[in-house]
Amino acid sequence: MTKTWLITGAGRGFGREIARAALAAGDQVIATAREPRHVVDGLPADPERLLALRLDVTDPDAAGGVVEEGLARFGRIDILVNNAGYGQVGAFEELSPTLIERQFQTNVFGTFNVTRAVLPAMRAQRAGRILNISSSLGIVGVDWWSVYGATKFAVAGWSEGLSKELAPFGIHVTSVHPGQFSTDFLDPSSIGMTDLQIDDYRPLDAARREFVAGRNHDQPGSPERFADAIIQLAALDTPPARWAAGSDALAAFEARAAQLRESAVEWHDLSLSTEHPA
Ligand SMILES: NC(=O)c1ccc[n+]([C@@H]2O[C@H](COP(=O)([O-])OP(=O)(O)OC[C@H]3O[C@@H](n4cnc5c(N)ncnc54)[C@H](OP(=O)(O)O)[C@@H]3O)[C@@H](O)[C@H]2O)c1
Repeated sequence: MTKTWLITGAGRGFGREIARAALAAGDQVIATAREPRHVVDGLPADPERLLALRLDVTDPDAAGGVVEEGLARFGRIDILVNNAGYGQVGAFEELSPTLIERQFQTNVFGTFNVTRAVLPAMRAQRAGRILNISSSLGIVGVDWWSVYGATKFAVAGWSEGLSKELAPFGIHVTSVHPGQFSTDFLDPSSIGMTDLQIDDYRPLDAARREFVAGRNHDQPGSPERFADAIIQLAALDTPPARWAAGSDALAAFEARAAQLRESAVEWHDLSLSTEHPA
């Protein structure tokens, strides 16, 4: 059966590749972007199956409008991909509250806005898939990425609870955790840099900036192959609650599991010491 996808941030990167793969699979796509011209220019022309709409995910009214227009055109939305986002880097103390709030407005509240707009239709259908793009940094915390990581942990934790809330309505939620992929993610056109400078953080900042500059567009992960995997995930009867994309993300899953297990064992007695005596 032909499915209808709604994808955010589809003008480039993962979003565009997922839209391309969904169209190639014969599905219909509502591809949204802050500049819909980028969707039209970046994907094969297919007016029957591709609807390109303007959406800045930080605008809840616009999210509602996109869902309305998409439903009017295709009648249903089967798969939502909350993909739009960017990396705000820098040590926590070197980021102004404004930059931190902007990061949460996009990566977390933007994801909430679009999901809130889509859910009534999915509940009415008693079916749906939601794929929330978190990160390997939503599994393991890394210095200089602490604020970005906070947004991706938030997306992952919310996804886990949401999947339980929505299971009775036949809606599956998956938190997707990519490692490093060669999109524009590390490019100056996407990444957010610090706006404050504190001497103590100069060595960390210099080392991380050098890494980012050297890795930009040279990450090991293929966005096209990622998109193909997303198509497979969306077709599963029982998709995973969390999925790691790439060997680095898989290593993060394993490191996290081992660390939690070790911590549970090491602090076992202290953990149990906090309850009222029997
Ligand atoms: N690539 C990686 O290594 C990697 C790893 C882990 C997680 N991720 C996550 O994957 C997702 C996609 O990133 P990407 O790798 O494809 O990077 P990208 O090439 O930089 O694409 C980011 C996309 O998000 C869009 N976007 C940003 N803010 C938006 C907003 N307020 N409203 C609507 N769209 C917005 C951008 O739109 P514009 O074109 O208008 O700027 C762009 O289409 C992000 O959530 C990112 O955190 C990426």
